[in-house]
Amino acid sequence: MTAFTFAETLACWQRRAGRSDLPWQQYHTPYERWLSEVMLQQTQVETVIPYFERFLAAFPSVEALAAASEAQVMKLWAGLGYYSRGRNLHRAAQMVVKEMQGRFPTTADELIKLPGIGPSTAAAVAAFTSGEAKEPMIDGNVKRVLARIDGIPGRVGEKAFETALAAAARRKLPGSECIAAYTQGLMDLGSLVCRRKSPNCAACPVRNFCKAFALGCPEDYPRPKTTAAK
Ligand code: ADE
Repeated sequence: MTAFTFAETLACWQRRAGRSDLPWQQYHTPYERWLSEVMLQQTQVETVIPYFERFLAAFPSVEALAAASEAQVMKLWAGLGYYSRGRNLHRAAQMVVKEMQGRFPTTADELIKLPGIGPSTAAAVAAFTSGEAKEPMIDGNVKRVLARIDGIPGRVGEKAFETALAAAARRKLPGSECIAAYTQGLMDLGSLVCRRKSPNCAACPVRNFCKAFALGCPEDYPRPKTTAAK
């Protein structure tokens, strides 16, 4: 009998106990998953939900978004912040319509060519829509979870920390059969269980894999960003 890996265990937990009713999770299509991932880049889930719903009602397809004026798009974006995201969203929709015959890409290599999509967003959209498992999605939650699991020292933003984190994230990537649940699982675990303060290790499905738990100090990972790094 082979033991389950970290990724398999987390994916299994996500399917059973993770979030499944977020509005964008009702879609497996790249336009909707791209829209939600861009909104989620710097904004909390609860804030994004009504914006996502209004946006999709106004622009139900990439063609509809491309055909809108920038003013219409920015009006719906108002209040979400980081306004370059809204402008890039509009430009990306126009590129998909003009240069990709309206077929929204589902591979990270193609997604990353669009404005406003970095490696992490490209990886998330690819994982959710085509099961591509080439590169990891890494956001703040993922950094905290993986720093604890592997006991990665240092602070977010520090070169050594980011390098070790990226290597750990790559090493742990599962195959395409569970990449979507695994990717969502990292975010769900980070927001529901492996919280920054008072993580609920008693409820954690992957605590047997966790170095910080074994050391008895999960809250020490990653070290806080605010204290100036020496
Ligand atoms: N943050 C970024 N992507 C997310 C997602 N798919 N679900 C919840 N939070 C996220």
